[in-house]
Amino acid sequence: MADTAPRDGTTLEHELEAMLEIERFDPPAEFRRQALLSDPAVYEEAARDPQGWWARQAANLDWFEPWDAVLDDSDPPFYKWFTGGRLNASHNCVDRHVEAGIGDRVAYHWHGEEGERRDVTYADLHRDVQRFANALKELGVQAGDVVGIYLPMIPEVVVAMLACARIGAPHNVVFGGFSAESVKERMEFSEAKVLVTVDGARRKGRTAPIKATVDETMGDLASLQTIVVVRHAGLPDVPMTAGRDVFYDEVCAAADPVCPAESLDAEHPLFILYTSGSTASPKGILHTTGGYMTGVSATHRYVFDLKPESDVYWCAADVGWITGHSYIVYGPLANGTTSVMWEGAPDYPHRGIWWEVAERTRATILYAAPTAIRTFMKWGHELPARYDLSALRLLGSVGEPINPKAWLWYQQVIGGGRCPIVDTWWQTETGAIMITPLPGITSAKPGSATKPFPGVFADVVSESDGESVETGQGLLVLTQPWPSMLRTLYKEDERFVETYFARFGKETYLVGDAARRDRDGYLWIIGRIDDVVNVSGHRLSTAEVESAIVAHEKVAEAAVIGQSDEDTGQAIAAFVTLNGEIEGSDELVAEIGAVVAERIGKFARPKRIIWADDLPKTRSGKIMRRLLRDIAEGRALGDVTTLRDPGVMAALESQVNEAQAQEQ
Ligand code: WTA
Repeated sequence: MADTAPRDGTTLEHELEAMLEIERFDPPAEFRRQALLSDPAVYEEAARDPQGWWARQAANLDWFEPWDAVLDDSDPPFYKWFTGGRLNASHNCVDRHVEAGIGDRVAYHWHGEEGERRDVTYADLHRDVQRFANALKELGVQAGDVVGIYLPMIPEVVVAMLACARIGAPHNVVFGGFSAESVKERMEFSEAKVLVTVDGARRKGRTAPIKATVDETMGDLASLQTIVVVRHAGLPDVPMTAGRDVFYDEVCAAADPVCPAESLDAEHPLFILYTSGSTASPKGILHTTGGYMTGVSATHRYVFDLKPESDVYWCAADVGWITGHSYIVYGPLANGTTSVMWEGAPDYPHRGIWWEVAERTRATILYAAPTAIRTFMKWGHELPARYDLSALRLLGSVGEPINPKAWLWYQQVIGGGRCPIVDTWWQTETGAIMITPLPGITSAKPGSATKPFPGVFADVVSESDGESVETGQGLLVLTQPWPSMLRTLYKEDERFVETYFARFGKETYLVGDAARRDRDGYLWIIGRIDDVVNVSGHRLSTAEVESAIVAHEKVAEAAVIGQSDEDTGQAIAAFVTLNGEIEGSDELVAEIGAVVAERIGKFARPKRIIWADDLPKTRSGKIMRRLLRDIAEGRALGDVTTLRDPGVMAALESQVNEAQAQEQ
């Protein structure tokens, strides 16, 4: 495991950090007055009786059968929550709101790239989800069968997810930015029976022929019986294989309109979502129904101080990531929220589009990634100033550490100085937000995710002995189970235990992030301790990118690191050794980028490729990434004595300097 030293920890930065620890922003008085939670006693209440606290949260859902026990912790780390209870996620997201008479409430104000608008109500979802659930059944999908979903940001993605949940078929959504090869890999691992995709996806005025591309890779996949195609981009001549492919609108039209929601066990799998870990093979994070729904609905309500009758909530993530699953789909719908759903990029058709959409919808809550905020910052405050953002009352941040400057800009320029900011730390594995301010209670410090959500227990422990670090830096761990925790890695129980529960025992979840605790007990997330890189809030494993790069025939070896980047938080830098006498060239850079785009997705392409005659390795042959990071970021080199050949570093340094001279 790598070091936890701050990657860019100069003395000055430490001093600035210390200054930041003092800076506090109390919840604005007006916000606090109307907040759902404004009494700090909630923290003690949950800490005294976490199971009682979570049971009260679970009771906000509709259960077909009550649970016998809140938590079964007889076989850690395989925890079970709300055992014996029965419910259905799609019923909780849709039916119960319709039954309560709020079917006409808009669930999504969908905004398309070319200015199209669609308002989807809860009654619309109720109708469409039932039809598609029946269509899936007609296609042979049964409870427990995995359904793949590879769709852009359109309402059908929500319908498809809820239809799966309705019949107990775990969905496996793949982010639209992943390549068809990645989709295939994920379908193969999860043995998906059906894949729901689209004719084409629109991006900044161009249309990518998704179905045609999917066909090129998916042909020989034995488990995949059906591909359902949503007609969205209006592409003519969509290739359809007779006997395998069907159109979404046609199967829905032919389906029975009534499909009661299955009564499912609280621990019935709701979905699998693949995420990156230390090795090249992605991890299938498995979430189940009762605990996940409890976690996402409670955090969505309290972290965003949600008033479903009046709020217009906009989570600007993609459904293909956990943020989208939990805070575009399940959390908001469980709470009867009206959301904004934006199909496109932040700069198309123009750089003010987010603010135009926020003004038009009178959005009250915005939840976005720091990388987007930094981009807007670069485009200037004049742009958002042209729009009326006065409806906004709360801002959220997720996916990566937010630097204090971006935090302040967000607060001042977007929030007009009146909106609290919730910097929410969590992971695909945790299912729901774990560390966050409560906006009516917690004083914020720019750059700190502050404190664990009530009922969540986090600690910072020393890397060497696992002892709690009162103030200072160490490894972040979660010390008690929580309802929305991952249950396992799909079909890889051993890897699950090994990855998260081997280091400090079966009751302590190893997060994989380093963190610092300050004198006030506030938590500051530093970054990953494993070989995971966070590019614009997108999680990637260095091993994954390396194995894509070495697939290029001219490449002998590659080492990938995450390098600090002003825009994207981290950026991928690749040190590449070429075969034999081959010389690096611009063409080769482009070719390597293309291989990565094809194998993983465009977003994983290295920002920088550094040709290296050799890579720094320990005597046992392990690549020392720490040294590569030092070199890429122009820092003084750390200890090189353990290197097999210390001379490698001098050669590399001169290669990097040469490359930098050319870049300028
Ligand atoms: C990072 C995204 C700092 C962290 C929800 C974590 C953050 C990884 C924050 C999980 C935050 C997420 N501050 N770092 N507020 N939120 N991270 O699984 O390194 O895509 O381990 O889940 O993102 O990424 P994932």
